[in-house]
Amino acid sequence: DSRLDPVEVHLPEDHAARALAEDAREGLTATPKTLPPKWFYDARGSELFERITRLPEYYPTRAEREILATRADEIAAATGAHTLVELGSGSSEKTRLLLDALRSAGTLAHIVALDVSATALRDAASALAVEYRGVQVSGVVGDFTEHLGLLPGQPPRLVAFLGGTIGNFLPAERAEFLDAIRAVLKPGEWLLLGTDLVKDENTLVRAYDDAEGVTAEFNRNVLHVLNRELGANFDPADFAHVALWNADEEWIEMRLRARRALTATIPELGLAVEFAEGEEIRTEISAKFRRDRVATELGAAGFELAHWWTDEANRFALSLARA
Ligand code: AVJ
Repeated sequence: DSRLDPVEVHLPEDHAARALAEDAREGLTATPKTLPPKWFYDARGSELFERITRLPEYYPTRAEREILATRADEIAAATGAHTLVELGSGSSEKTRLLLDALRSAGTLAHIVALDVSATALRDAASALAVEYRGVQVSGVVGDFTEHLGLLPGQPPRLVAFLGGTIGNFLPAERAEFLDAIRAVLKPGEWLLLGTDLVKDENTLVRAYDDAEGVTAEFNRNVLHVLNRELGANFDPADFAHVALWNADEEWIEMRLRARRALTATIPELGLAVEFAEGEEIRTEISAKFRRDRVATELGAAGFELAHWWTDEANRFALSLARA
């Protein structure tokens, strides 16, 4: 039997539109200009990201998959999880490595996926319900920075936050996010956290500035999103893709640099945004970690780091933390 719960929607229909408008107004009137990375991911952006994960230079996806393939059974044994909560749509091949291990261990009863996109979630949830017969599948439409308190599922739960996406948060946002996850978990429940690791600058920068230019297109895609959703008139070709390593903060920054002085209008915001030649919008940070920092930040949120696993080449880490 298939046990697919109706997708629970915790976001109003117009949430994304309002949030984008607010983020664009705030970020593009600030100095320096910024835009949050979550707006990369419309249909085209998600496709470009999929292509990024297959690029020779972009190692994180393969490194994390290697760890999961090696450690999934250990994770299942250590946690005995009845519920896997995936922050993100849960459609990935990596999630399935975990689900298969939990099913083999005989503990898997419930899969919960939380995502901002109702469409992505409905597709992912239906597929999971078919693949994991007899397992309850719940999709929750929500923002994982806001709706963690609403997560269903019988304990012990294992919350998976994979891909290194925690690196997109600024340190203060990261602390808030870990606190929020810890607050919804009961003692003895689990967090599985994927983090990319600090390594030589060349490898890092190449991962965010690939030879084929896919990451450059992905970066510029946020301008297509502003054009479509807010009626803006950016010409993405006016902006150069910049990826740089910020050694003090230990994060990669992606920026869009105006190739000439220009003014973009954003009718839906009643805004004209001026760019000097060379002026940049920071579109993403992707923080890279060391074991000490991960252990400290998890500890500050009330987690205990129970396991730390890396891929053979020490590029990426998975942390299993106990609430
Ligand atoms: C999906 C957030 C983990 O930061 O590496 C890939 C996004 N940005 N290339 C990352 C991304 C540029 C990715 N995360």
